[in-house]
Amino acid sequence: MVRYLFSFALFGLVAAENGLNAWLRYAPIPNAQNYSASLPSSIVSLNSTETSPVYTAGTELQNGIQGIFGKRLSISHANGTTSSSIVVGTVDEYAKTGGSVQGIPELDEDGFWLSSKGGNVQILGENERGALYGAFEYLSMLAQGNLSSVAYATNPNAPVRWVNQWDNLDGSIERGYGGPSIFFENGTIVNDLTRAGDYARLLASVRVNAVVVNNVNANSTLLSTRNIQGLGRIADAFRPYGVRLGISLDFASPMDFGGLPTYDPLDPSVIAFWTNVTNQIYETVPDMAGYLVKANSEGQAGPLTYNRTLSQGGNLFAKALQPHGGIVMFRAFVYNMLNESDWKADRANAAVQFFKDLDGQFDDNVVVQIKYGPIDFQVREPTSPLFANLLNTSTAIELEVAQEYLGQQCHLVYLPPLWKTVLDFDLRVNNQSSLVRNIISGKRFNRPLGGSAAVVNVGTNTTWLGSHLAMSNLYAYGRLAWDPAQDPQSILQDWIRLTFSLDNEVIDTITQMSMESWPAYESYSGNLGIQTLTDILYTHFGPNPASQDNNGYGQWTRADHLTIGMDRTVSNGTGFSGQYPPEIYEMYENIETTPDNLLLWFHHVNYTQRLQSGQTVIQHFYDAHYSGADTAQTFVPLWESLEGKVDTERYNDVLFRQTYQAGHSIVWRDAINNYYYNLSGIPDEANRVGNHPYRVEAESMTLSGYEPYPVNPFEMASNFTAIITTSNNTAGTAMTTLQYPSGTYDLGVNYYDLIGGKSNWEIYLNNRTLGRWYGNNEDTLGHAPSTYLDGHSATRITFRDVQIQKGDMLKIVGMPNGIEPAPLDYVVVLPKGIVD
Ligand code: GCU
Repeated sequence: MVRYLFSFALFGLVAAENGLNAWLRYAPIPNAQNYSASLPSSIVSLNSTETSPVYTAGTELQNGIQGIFGKRLSISHANGTTSSSIVVGTVDEYAKTGGSVQGIPELDEDGFWLSSKGGNVQILGENERGALYGAFEYLSMLAQGNLSSVAYATNPNAPVRWVNQWDNLDGSIERGYGGPSIFFENGTIVNDLTRAGDYARLLASVRVNAVVVNNVNANSTLLSTRNIQGLGRIADAFRPYGVRLGISLDFASPMDFGGLPTYDPLDPSVIAFWTNVTNQIYETVPDMAGYLVKANSEGQAGPLTYNRTLSQGGNLFAKALQPHGGIVMFRAFVYNMLNESDWKADRANAAVQFFKDLDGQFDDNVVVQIKYGPIDFQVREPTSPLFANLLNTSTAIELEVAQEYLGQQCHLVYLPPLWKTVLDFDLRVNNQSSLVRNIISGKRFNRPLGGSAAVVNVGTNTTWLGSHLAMSNLYAYGRLAWDPAQDPQSILQDWIRLTFSLDNEVIDTITQMSMESWPAYESYSGNLGIQTLTDILYTHFGPNPASQDNNGYGQWTRADHLTIGMDRTVSNGTGFSGQYPPEIYEMYENIETTPDNLLLWFHHVNYTQRLQSGQTVIQHFYDAHYSGADTAQTFVPLWESLEGKVDTERYNDVLFRQTYQAGHSIVWRDAINNYYYNLSGIPDEANRVGNHPYRVEAESMTLSGYEPYPVNPFEMASNFTAIITTSNNTAGTAMTTLQYPSGTYDLGVNYYDLIGGKSNWEIYLNNRTLGRWYGNNEDTLGHAPSTYLDGHSATRITFRDVQIQKGDMLKIVGMPNGIEPAPLDYVVVLPKGIVD
């Protein structure tokens, strides 16, 4: 695949790009021609079978070097001892062709050796997959302008480095924000699997070795003969990249699909069903990686229905897979609905309660897959204590590249710093060093298996995730799965160089934006361990703090007018802190030693409780929400400073998203602050909350064809009220005389963009049009949409550098469409440097 063949005469200009090649662009590097002479003159790929990863490595090297240096190397498959060449293959094959393997250390499965000295390059894998990984590593160096001599071996931290797609057979993706599935449509596998192959290429380049292609909320019709054949085609598309196929199973399939009267895991007919299905799949996909199982969780069937244990459920599949070498990833995400009136009830306790006693009862080819925190992919959670409670069971960590609770790829949130809070956490099992990354590798407890899985929501969008910048999370996931000890910032910078440019300004700017992004998002969503405070009952996107409480999901904040937080102590609360080993338990049990950023996770306190920082809880909320939203504003000018240094297509796309995030961070800030101000009655010391001198509320403007609309929940509108058109097919007008001193302002308009209609608005200053926009975010952003005026649909558009004279007439004409009544919340007239 050679997409970048533009000549060196053009070098320096930036070509438009759509993101499809992600970090594998092989763009020409500055002064590429100077290196040409010192490059190898040919490629020897020690396997001539086109479907082998070693063959792929040969063509990838050829295309990559041509893209980066404009030099086309020939490929041969014969002799590994040729000089001035790149030799790629397995260590064994290399030795067979007469190559010397002296000095190459013993490699683990998927590991590789890379040696590069001038024109002589050895890329030797323990297996073919490892050889391909080595080729990608070498190309990554070249693409970053690094032609230094190297000689080293590298091995994976753990054997399981999987991604989980939550794709449904109808082509939709659960928590997908980058378009429909690249694998499925209309109940079956798509005909054209080009994107599946492209995806495998991206994943192989960061050493991910398997993809579970369908949703954990699985559909048993995946097991039809036609679909198994389709799975075979997916596996064929993956195979040249050393990526293996995995599938999610519906535990009730023997009944739903097989027509049996039961799915009891100990019933012989059920065992026979799964054995047959498994054998049938392996006939089509002889190298299938294994199964992923969500059992007795959120309405899914499971063994508990028949009073069988979860381990009996897991072992059912393990036994069917064992003869084929497959493994079962059995999810620990099991919990019951709870009653908040019970002070001791706690969903965070569930995983340990369900799994601890099963330790040692799972077959050796079962890996228990554990979400990083005890609840559900929140902006901050303590490490799941289950990692410290399974000493005789293989475990994997489950991360979420899909930003389900973290801005849904419409907010920039670089996730590795969050992941590292868990991977690097020392659980102190038996008072000894017990880093999560050493538990999942199998090393700490001497387990044969283990690793990582990430929920990924790539779709048919050419950007894969719907957002160019979000791709750093997918890249870094693979890098950390291989070596979780790596530094998130240096991984990020490799990604920036490969994805955008070697220019220092580009690297520094995207680094700053990305590294500040998770702290900013935490600041303007939920702080101090209270969780994300998004709407857990609807879209999981915008703010809705009230949705956490008064339902059975157990993501409670227990906020009332005086107090907030979950008491998870042993002494007075749910006892969750007691699930940790003693040293960790002590830290969290005591309020004095609980870190501020998890205070409300572990303790129920007054809003006036002092933090270690000296701040009160409530003032911290206010301050953090202001500073987080302020930081999100800076991402816009930071990105704008890269104009001309990034191709126009990606520049504009990212600018649109950063502008959206800047506006939505203010929606978050105000919603959360107003909610807790209203609940606690404690004013903001800095008098910002509820005080907006630069705003003109839409309901206070002169309206015709518009009427006030009380928004529910109240905190999702400035001054609790928006306006909507009085009819669904006639334009409304809102007018006001601006009383600000004459000068240059940024003019923001906050409106609501619902799914189910595309209103348009036109804004005038003294009858001169300033601009026009459409309510079409559902087409342009990709986040879970909303049919209401709420924190998900609330959006800001900003007109920059507008000359305003005192007394100017501002008019907005809104034309409703479908169910969207051209809703407006307020106009904000911002002097330079003011954020509101
Ligand atoms: C979350 C998510 C669901 C998903 C579930 C899971 O609750 O919102 O969409 O099915 O996790 O991990 O199984």
